Amino acid sequence: MPSPRERWHSRTAFIMAAIGSAVGLGNVWRFPYVAYQSGGGAFLIPYFTALFTAGIPMLILEMGIGQRLQRGAPGAFAAIRPKLEWFGWWAAGLSAAIVIYYSTILAWSWVYLWHSLDVAWAGDVEGFYAREVLHKSAGPGELGAPVWPLVLGMALTWLSIYLILRRGVRNVSKVVMVTVPLPLVLLAVLLARGLTLPGSADGIRYYLTPDFAMLGDWRIWLRAYGQIFFSLSLASGVMIGYGSYLGRRAEITNSALITAFANCGTSFFAGFAVFSMLGYLAQVQGLPVPDVTDSGTGLAFVTYPMAIAKLPALQAAIGVVFFITLLTLGIDSAFALQEAFTTGLHDKWRLAPEKLARVFVLVAFPVSLIFTTRGGFYWFDIVDKWVCDFGLVAAGLGQSLIVGWLYDVRDFRAYLNGISEVRLGAWWVWALRVVTPAVLVVILVMNLKAEIEATYEGYPRWATSAGGWGTLVLFAVLGWFLWRARGRREAA
Ligand code: PHE
Repeated sequence: MPSPRERWHSRTAFIMAAIGSAVGLGNVWRFPYVAYQSGGGAFLIPYFTALFTAGIPMLILEMGIGQRLQRGAPGAFAAIRPKLEWFGWWAAGLSAAIVIYYSTILAWSWVYLWHSLDVAWAGDVEGFYAREVLHKSAGPGELGAPVWPLVLGMALTWLSIYLILRRGVRNVSKVVMVTVPLPLVLLAVLLARGLTLPGSADGIRYYLTPDFAMLGDWRIWLRAYGQIFFSLSLASGVMIGYGSYLGRRAEITNSALITAFANCGTSFFAGFAVFSMLGYLAQVQGLPVPDVTDSGTGLAFVTYPMAIAKLPALQAAIGVVFFITLLTLGIDSAFALQEAFTTGLHDKWRLAPEKLARVFVLVAFPVSLIFTTRGGFYWFDIVDKWVCDFGLVAAGLGQSLIVGWLYDVRDFRAYLNGISEVRLGAWWVWALRVVTPAVLVVILVMNLKAEIEATYEGYPRWATSAGGWGTLVLFAVLGWFLWRARGRREAA
């Protein structure tokens, strides 16, 4: 007798977990910057267009297919066509790749949390990041030894993930009740601090002043689609895996809408917290706001800490709040990613959650140590770029084509309408069949073209081939083995 599938505690728990996965570092250090750079307030137009024509349709598809087929990505695609199991493993493999490097950012955040206590970066913020924290080498060719505080941060991260996942989805149901609201409260604290500083209004003005002329540049539209995809955790098997732990009559469409709006609302809100602080920093330094604006790791580990060091009071407290915000934002995205992969293993081999969590962490932790070495930053940067800009985009493309054209998507729509609070119109089918794949093809081609013209960040070709393409191929091969391996169901 197979044991019954694990279930979420409640509908709220499912929605919270989905929001936890979607709301992550991308909302804080990517959205505000992309918005500011792409027309400010006017960026909301391409952003919402991307949300409605691709993001929400895909999210409904992923949650719905997981719920209907009661399996994670590999099993779900196998149910559509047996050979597609390989594709499902590849998508889920991308989530394994992401969690392995995403954990690096959490490791850095632990280290900064520690240094917040005495605002150790004050003075030379950039030098502190590169030399004291990363011990950055000259390039990817010079790996060097692991930096031990980073190893410690990495160990704390994986230990947290293990402790949360070892009791499976029921435990995740409880954890997300803390890790989802807490960063929102902390962001509100940061916003309150930011808004009461001189210069904050200038920062916010830069963030939101609409520049409608920029909407004529079609690259801005592509950027909006890219941001929506990453932010909603699409194409990585995460939402399929989470959907698979829903009961058979569970509501889908409205849950997806709630998740999407909560995520985008958080991004918009985070922009105020970030830009009010940047406005202050600009004022203190006597520079225009654009000169202190940064995205990605630079924002979180250089620019924002720089502003903290310039605060008139409570520097350590705000530092602690900021890095706990990053940690709580990131941790539920991290364990969702791991769960996406291990759900596939569970479906095929009926392994217990504790064992899956243990084995995964025991393999992933040593691998992730590459990113704690002195050259680790460069490899982190390369893997991130390739997995997101090529891997996730290709997986999203495959997924929309497979479900749009090989699966009876009209019947699927009727199924969803039978269980959901909101009715899906025929537009949904066409968003999946035509709009999403068309946009993703263009993004993929553009990214490839840019890469052929000049290697990313000027890294040597051998490094981007090994770290970037190598990672994608490695997971394709791993997916092939997992697909060919005999599962419990077939063996029995
Ligand atoms: N959505 C997360 C963020 O915004 C990142 C993520 C991508 C998580 C893909 C899971 C899967 O940070």
